[in-house]
Amino acid sequence: MIQIAPSLLSADFLHLEKDILLVNAFADLFHLDVMDGVFVPNISFGFPVVEAVARQAEKPLDVHLMIVHPEKYVERFAKAGAQMISFHYEAAREASADIIAQIQALGVKAGIVINPDCPVQAIFPLLDKVDFVLLMSVFAGFGGQAFIPETIGRIQAVRAELDRIGRPDVPIEVDGGIGPANAADVVAAGAEILVAGSSVFKADDPAKAIRAMRG
Ligand code: DX5
Ligand code: ZN
Repeated sequence: MIQIAPSLLSADFLHLEKDILLVNAFADLFHLDVMDGVFVPNISFGFPVVEAVARQAEKPLDVHLMIVHPEKYVERFAKAGAQMISFHYEAAREASADIIAQIQALGVKAGIVINPDCPVQAIFPLLDKVDFVLLMSVFAGFGGQAFIPETIGRIQAVRAELDRIGRPDVPIEVDGGIGPANAADVVAAGAEILVAGSSVFKADDPAKAIRAMRG
């Protein structure tokens, strides 16, 4: 099943409630981008915003951590209402397996994320542990960037490895530059969760944009 995860990074922060209500019935997940200004050159939002979104969102919260030392904060994001938490392999390296276990022990689905310049093979040793994989199709840090076409081959490679190790049900999430024009290609390559920020919240009709991607 294809899941559409609107990224609130592109929502109207002065009227977050309005934007949540606009997509509540049409989205499958809410994607929340947490940036610390250290791992990525941008700062977005943290716990109070996630807690506030949790009060209105009728779909699970998918928290994408673009931060150093994710192990220090996953418990608080779980308490804030996250049902899925992903963190960057580049920020955790050899600690990644322990952080996956830490997230899962909180009753939250754990995902590993890599940027476009990280070889997919780097996360192959973690594929028997994760609940989902998040492949960046832009460099983490900003919304509104163009989809990097090489992502298609990377999705195929991770999908093939998940199949090979007997975990075909582990979903691949793709994040960055996704909209109605390329959603079908991303899904054909083997992705199931599509993050979409600008293409949803900058559209005249966000619900229609989500429907177009599903189609
Ligand atoms: C980028 C974030 C993305 C971003 C996607 O660092 O991880 O989730 O919000 O935005 P669009 O869909 O506009 O590329
Ligand atoms: Zn994201």
